[in-house]
Amino acid sequence: MCGPAKTDLVKEIGADHVLDHTRAEVTDGGRRYDLVVDTGGHRPLRLLRKALAPRGTLVIIGSETGGRWFGGIDRQLRASLLSPFVGQKLAMLVSTEKADDLRALTELVGAGTLTPAVDRTYRWPPPRPPCGT
Ligand SMILES: NC(=O)c1ccc[n+]([C@@H]2O[C@H](COP(=O)([O-])OP(=O)(O)OC[C@H]3O[C@@H](n4cnc5c(N)ncnc54)[C@H](OP(=O)(O)O)[C@@H]3O)[C@@H](O)[C@H]2O)c1
Repeated sequence: MCGPAKTDLVKEIGADHVLDHTRAEVTDGGRRYDLVVDTGGHRPLRLLRKALAPRGTLVIIGSETGGRWFGGIDRQLRASLLSPFVGQKLAMLVSTEKADDLRALTELVGAGTLTPAVDRTYRWPPPRPPCGT
């Protein structure tokens, strides 16, 4: 799932089937997925589970809402607590940058197996501000 501006890009990097989140819901089309990764969608746990196969895996990455008690990770916590009692595996992920992982990714990019989508580039070092500012 992605916004309308990214549909072509997402197809280009390998998606067979793309849903525009401004028009469709993750459950639309009645498909059930083996793996659902929710990065920025902030869809309710109930809907994410509905989109998931009976023995599928859900990984919640982000979309924290800054809630009062749990900093907005209530969904992640509910998923982790529920997981042992249902057939689906419901998990959250907190990323850490490891040199070995980055090396493995670099190798995949070098081999052409993985194509990074570069949104924009910046000059480094950045240009110096004009004198007197
Ligand atoms: N767990 C961790 O370790 C970890 C690490 C880093 C970040 N995070 C969290 O991960 C989230 C994403 O980070 P980010 O830096 O990528 O945020 P971002 O730059 O704000 O991107 C979020 C994207 O989600 C897309 N989106 C919104 N609703 C969607 C939906 N229903 N379905 C599919 N896509 C949807 C939007 O894409 P369009 O522009 O196409 O609409 C938006 O560009 C944040 O909540 C961040 O806090 C977690």
